[in-house]
Amino acid sequence: MMYQNKKIATVAGKLENRLVELEDKAAILRAPELKSLYAEIPTLDPKDRASFGKEINQLKDYLQKQIDAFTEKTEALDPIDVTAPFDINTPHAKKPHLLSSELGTKHPLTQEIEKVIDIFARMGFDAIESRQIDDDYHMFESLNFPEGHPARDDYDTFMTTEGLIAPAHTSTMQNRILKTYSSSLEAGKPIASIIPGRVFRNEDLDATHEHTFYQLEGVYVSENINAGHLTATLKTFLEEYFQEELEVRSQPFYFPFTEPSFEFALKRKGQDWMELIGCGMIHPEVLRMGGIDPKKYTGFAWGFGIDRLVLLKYGIEDIRHFESGKLDFLRQF
Ligand code: DAH
Repeated sequence: MMYQNKKIATVAGKLENRLVELEDKAAILRAPELKSLYAEIPTLDPKDRASFGKEINQLKDYLQKQIDAFTEKTEALDPIDVTAPFDINTPHAKKPHLLSSELGTKHPLTQEIEKVIDIFARMGFDAIESRQIDDDYHMFESLNFPEGHPARDDYDTFMTTEGLIAPAHTSTMQNRILKTYSSSLEAGKPIASIIPGRVFRNEDLDATHEHTFYQLEGVYVSENINAGHLTATLKTFLEEYFQEELEVRSQPFYFPFTEPSFEFALKRKGQDWMELIGCGMIHPEVLRMGGIDPKKYTGFAWGFGIDRLVLLKYGIEDIRHFESGKLDFLRQF
């Protein structure tokens, strides 16, 4: 935009520059420079007034246009809802091409977790995922580890400065399961739940230890339940998962939340015994804290590492492969 009048040209240059910086673009129309140009009109020689006035109006119109263009541009941008899935945020015309399903697969652990959930579903267990951040009550107290209990040391994990815990086992969910289903238990329906979930440990890493891995917890409560039901349930699951007959055995162990507690081992044909599962009869105190009368009901629970189970099934030599992102490993599944 060219202006004959030098003064107006100078003010125009200044205001255009200022417009770029201004957040509130419309404020430019209230600039003192513009006001003083208008104020100058009556002081001018009458023959110059019309052209001077016309040029100021031109400048004002130009600024107004700039303001309108800017507002239109910002209004045209879709606001982004960062909590929404991508298809809400992506304008229609710009939807990303979906990758062909041949270009990717589910992670091996996800595939195996789905198989495990499916087997237990056929055995009558529902599945509930565990949490990845939890508290002292669910990690310890509700599992019969009072403060200062030495067995807490076996579950060394990570804690926030506010005292929240990256859970070291999926047993954190036992109390929630018991409380949630105590009323249906009273109505005659046994509690039968599995809890797959990610857990965390402060570990020295090696071929069989990861700091982050998956566990599968199981809880069964009803009347007249004994350790024979526990053995039968685990054996049935394992034979279905491995698709072969297995030998199983349990030996005494210690967990604060089960009494008695066992370590459950399996043996595949031609291979050594492998301890795989911590388990036992749910401690009466744990049932009581879950709102269940231990005189009327008994139950069993177990927990095993899903990664370990998958290692064993496929003869994988190093647990760290799972999180390594190595495609030559992942593509075998
Ligand atoms: N939470 C135990 C662990 O991570 C495993 C376990 C043992 C779970 C006995 C249970 C159980 O439910 O009854 O070492």
